[in-house]
Amino acid sequence: MRGQLILIEGLDRSGKSTQSVKLHESIKDSFIVKFPDRSTRIGSIINEYLTNEDFKLPDQSIHLLFSANRWEVIQDMIDKLNNGHTIILDRYIYSGISYSLSKSQLSNTKNEMSDVDWLYSPDKGLPKPDLTLFLSLELDQINSRAEFGEERYEKTEFQKIVKSNFLKILPQEGVKILNVNDKSIEEVQKMIWEIIEQGDYNKLTNNPISYFT
Ligand code: ADP
Ligand code: TMP
Ligand code: MG
Repeated sequence: MRGQLILIEGLDRSGKSTQSVKLHESIKDSFIVKFPDRSTRIGSIINEYLTNEDFKLPDQSIHLLFSANRWEVIQDMIDKLNNGHTIILDRYIYSGISYSLSKSQLSNTKNEMSDVDWLYSPDKGLPKPDLTLFLSLELDQINSRAEFGEERYEKTEFQKIVKSNFLKILPQEGVKILNVNDKSIEEVQKMIWEIIEQGDYNKLTNNPISYFT
């Protein structure tokens, strides 16, 4: 028996971190794993990239660093699942693909950033979430949230492209898209909890961990 892997995805400031904490508080012995994990050495380069627009890195490099940052902590995550802990992921590989893919569309160029297979390949071998929740919110509601605009990707035009890419690349299976427009933190928390309880995602499972192939 193992714990389950629950992923919360969404645009910047859509409420992922807020809801991750709420879910963590509701599931005993659970852990939150947040990507990017800015506390590691790779994470500190990512943090510099996101917070300092003068810090230049080729798109290919930063894309691979985001993936490398996931690989840094993956064994610990797998061990925790196997020891019966639920893990709540705050972003994961779908953020990796959607944000990088959006760069090619914004600049209207064809390169590795427009090649979904290339973008996906460094994440092959990572464990697949048992459940993915996508918090879907209108752009104007995100714009007005506290702190929106502080980091590199927090620009409305860019976020609009990212949203359409998320909806394009998220798989059909195991994904729930939640319309959280005009919903309070408590209302979103309730929507999420209903899905968790219905699917027993807060309980241990016999299913072996599956991996991205
Ligand atoms: P993310 O992790 O997706 O970037 P956060 O959880 O940090 O988003 O939330 C961004 C901001 O929006 C925070 O100030 C948070 O308190 C606020 N917020 C989160 N959820 C809601 C909600 N449902 N309604 C209004 N404000 C919210
Ligand atoms: P955060 O606000 O959730 O910490 O995310 C930081 C930013 O990094 C956010 O704009 C999304 C972006 N991102 C990627 O571009 N690729 C990735 O693989 C991840 C995890 C995040
Ligand atoms: Mg967050």
